[in-house]
Amino acid sequence: MNRRAMFLEVLGIPAEWVPRKAPVTAVAEAPLAETIVMAEASEVVKVAAMAEAAESVKSVDSTEVATPPMTADNFDTPDAGDAAEIAETVEAFDTPARAAAPAVPILRQSNPEQDGRDAAIAAMDWPTLAASVAGCTDCGLCATRTNTVFGVGDQRAEWMLVGEAPGENEDLQGEPFVGQAGKLLDNMLAALGLARDRNVYIANVLKCRPPGNRNPEPDEVAQCEPYLKRQIALIKPKVIVVLGRFAAQSLLRSTTPIGKLRGTVHTYEGIPVVVTYHPAYLLRTLTDKARAWEDLCLAREVLNRAGAQA
Ligand code: URA
Repeated sequence: MNRRAMFLEVLGIPAEWVPRKAPVTAVAEAPLAETIVMAEASEVVKVAAMAEAAESVKSVDSTEVATPPMTADNFDTPDAGDAAEIAETVEAFDTPARAAAPAVPILRQSNPEQDGRDAAIAAMDWPTLAASVAGCTDCGLCATRTNTVFGVGDQRAEWMLVGEAPGENEDLQGEPFVGQAGKLLDNMLAALGLARDRNVYIANVLKCRPPGNRNPEPDEVAQCEPYLKRQIALIKPKVIVVLGRFAAQSLLRSTTPIGKLRGTVHTYEGIPVVVTYHPAYLLRTLTDKARAWEDLCLAREVLNRAGAQA
């Protein structure tokens, strides 16, 4: 018996989980500040279409979707040899203090300068967007960053993953999720036949590292969100998987705890969003890996359904 199996046995968790149908309970549209101010008829149509799509997801026969068996080994946690680095990652992204502070939804007042900036970003192509992020000095994080972390992956991917913000390794290397949490994320993706260099795009809400990995500030999120929004608009993914409480609450403009955001198909700019745990949290809480797998299966169902309707 390997160490993982022994560990799970000690915790009383069987090595094999019985596949369960991922719950789809509701559809919620992220109320963007501007959407609240100027709700367009097209938005309403999008929400209605999403509700319909979610209804169909609900009725997907489990035999229609080839769901791999839900096993503890669907994605491996990095080896214990990296324990110190794992502890650091967990410490950085998963402290009780961070967990206690909800991501504050940004309801920014409209002002001409900000609106002009947002509109300019919303019209950028990939090279202009990347250059704009690389040279951005619109919040204080530019003073402490080593590199901006734009995003990585296939710019035409059907899957997009959104994390919170770069950590130390990401800041040094300029790529999202390259530390221990990133290794776990890669394993999660591999379990779905996905890889960052092939068929998925990974980005963060923030493109610069908050010093000491503190929680992002609302104004930092407000300045950075237009970049993410443009990335999403250019990629047009079929599903967005949001990693962790902070990214989920920021993107969905919500203070709802992550446990309640999971299991529901939300939308961001008309694109289905599935929320799951942050890989750094999963490094510590192995018992929630099965829930994370359920979330990924839900995302895959949403995507399969979208493909079937296309
Ligand atoms: N955590 C995140 O949310 N994003 C990264 O890129 C790395 C760690």
